[in-house]
Amino acid sequence: MDSVMLKQNVGDAFERIFGSAPSAVVTAPGRVNLLGEHTDYNGGFVLPMPLNLEICIAIGPGSKPGHAELYSLNFDARAEIALDGDKADEWSDFILGSFRFSPDKPDLAKGYSLAVGSSLPMGAGISSSAALEVASLRAIAALKGEDEPDPVAIAIAARRVENEFVGMPCGIMDQFASSVGTQHMALFLDTKTLDYELAPLFSDHRFITLHSGVTHKLTDGSYEQRVKECNSACEKLGIASLREVGISDLDRINAIGGVEAQRARHVVTDNQRVLDGVEALKSGSAGLFGKLMVQSHLSQKDDYEITVEETDTLVEVALQMGAVGARQTGGGFGGSIVCLVKEDLVDRWCEDMTTRFPETTVLAIS
Ligand code: GLA
Repeated sequence: MDSVMLKQNVGDAFERIFGSAPSAVVTAPGRVNLLGEHTDYNGGFVLPMPLNLEICIAIGPGSKPGHAELYSLNFDARAEIALDGDKADEWSDFILGSFRFSPDKPDLAKGYSLAVGSSLPMGAGISSSAALEVASLRAIAALKGEDEPDPVAIAIAARRVENEFVGMPCGIMDQFASSVGTQHMALFLDTKTLDYELAPLFSDHRFITLHSGVTHKLTDGSYEQRVKECNSACEKLGIASLREVGISDLDRINAIGGVEAQRARHVVTDNQRVLDGVEALKSGSAGLFGKLMVQSHLSQKDDYEITVEETDTLVEVALQMGAVGARQTGGGFGGSIVCLVKEDLVDRWCEDMTTRFPETTVLAIS
């Protein structure tokens, strides 16, 4: 569903459920990450790209002071949240957290109504939660009459919602890509300084985001464990952040041994792959970019241990079927893969993949 249609549907649903037209209707996109995985909470480099799959929120004043009344089109469910309440381990947490951390400081004693709709599948590893946070923060800003809120401030607030309210120790990549990124451009971000640059996509190749059908879940502790292992690697290396080491330090990293060496090796080499990948985008070298994607997948598989059998197989077959690059994308443990395919092969490649793996879905072709 395109953005215009989604906004129309969510606006109409708001009016049907809450009995008046919304004050504002906003959207925020999900993202696919092209290179640089689990580097963001290590102060490293990432290369995500927003997708034209979005979360849409219609907002208006509500009738219950101190509460937000919510309606989800996708779940066809209503919920009511106390704006000073605790998290409930529900989708509404991302909205509640956004009220609490919004740079626009909404009056929590007032009442609000929100209708939420989405063209973005959940659990596909393309950042539905970051999109929900960014859309919520944009909606809150719009209700205050702020039509162009600072996108970097929104990204920072959205990450705080995850870290400090939801309790997920993620980096800033997803929120930044959703809030600051531009469609059809890669976003090269230095997560240490928040300096960023847009890089063009290839004119003769397409990035295809393919959902493996394995729902990824980062709340079972595996993500948090990786964060801890990286911190432990830093302790062993006597540094404050893995950003302080690069590929010239690989001997030193290998010497600490164990799982810490593996995790640090992945982060350091994936950081380098982002830097090399940006150059490949700028010079139109799809072949080189593809090689970096494959190396990144193997590093996620062998050193970071966040791939699953299904995504490993998909990557292998994607390459056999003619992709120049393929890798698991996002937090890992399932979710989606991203592949780089020559433009004139795209249709056939998508058909071959989805026929051979009926549980997969092509989410986006960029
Ligand atoms: C999740 C997190 C991001 C990032 C990726 C892995 O999507 O939200 O901050 O760490 O995993 O690159």
